[in-house]
Amino acid sequence: MKKNDFESAARLIKNAKHLTAFTGAGISAESGIPTFRGKEGIWNKYDPIILDIDYFKSNPEKAYPLIKEMFYEIIDKAQPNKAHKILGQWEREGILKAIITQNIDNLHQKAGNKNVIEFHGNTRDLVCMNCGEKFSVNSIDFEQNPVICPKCGGLLKPDFVFFGEPIPADAYKQSVFHTLASDVYLVIGTTGIIMPASLLPYEAKKNGAKIIEINTEPSEYTEKITDIFLQGKATEILDKLNNLNSLIGY
Ligand code: APR
Repeated sequence: MKKNDFESAARLIKNAKHLTAFTGAGISAESGIPTFRGKEGIWNKYDPIILDIDYFKSNPEKAYPLIKEMFYEIIDKAQPNKAHKILGQWEREGILKAIITQNIDNLHQKAGNKNVIEFHGNTRDLVCMNCGEKFSVNSIDFEQNPVICPKCGGLLKPDFVFFGEPIPADAYKQSVFHTLASDVYLVIGTTGIIMPASLLPYEAKKNGAKIIEINTEPSEYTEKITDIFLQGKATEILDKLNNLNSLIGY
């Protein structure tokens, strides 16, 4: 594993035939969204049981106020940062083929990326656990507790993946496709411990991809599969790569 070899990383990105970015909470940290782990992590403040599907089903009136506090209030105010925007630019320039994100904050889409695979779903919609109807969070009365389906009166669930729920089939399929098609795989801001998402970079590596990792500190991947480790904040590292990229182009 080479550390902070920006030149090699920029060249790999520039010449990649199929570059995929795999992102975690760390890419949104500089947009003011707390990560899950680490000293200011969400799990230091809230009990993960709140996001357990069985707990949610039996205690929706307890879970909802905390879920709104944990995610919706913060995500509403959050804007894409420079890291998100550079990935948007790389997609427009044809450098980046897809983003597989574990995040549910919609910041990649706000930064202009079209091909975003939301491995853990999203906070834009809610789905009825009774009739299956989907509603955009802005189209219903989100103030009620618990949030009830306007169509059948059933319990509405945020459309992100709770612990104990399966990964959305289409997201899974698309993630595997891009992971196996990648010759360069950019892993940004993730501890690499939550399965099955965390297995994807290993699959990319096994399939011959070069792994470039951006993180403020080493992760589960760094000593095992990372080829180039760029240590630092995602905004700073991507900005540096982006400048080098444009230089290498000429
Ligand atoms: N730039 C780059 N990396 C950063 C930054 C930053 N500014 N700030 C923090 N990081 C790194 C941390 O070092 C850590 O490795 O981001 C990572 C955040 O790790 P987690 O909080 O565990 O987030 P993530 O890996 O995305 O969690 C995966 O766990 O709770 C579940 O479903 C939830 O999608 C989430 C999954």
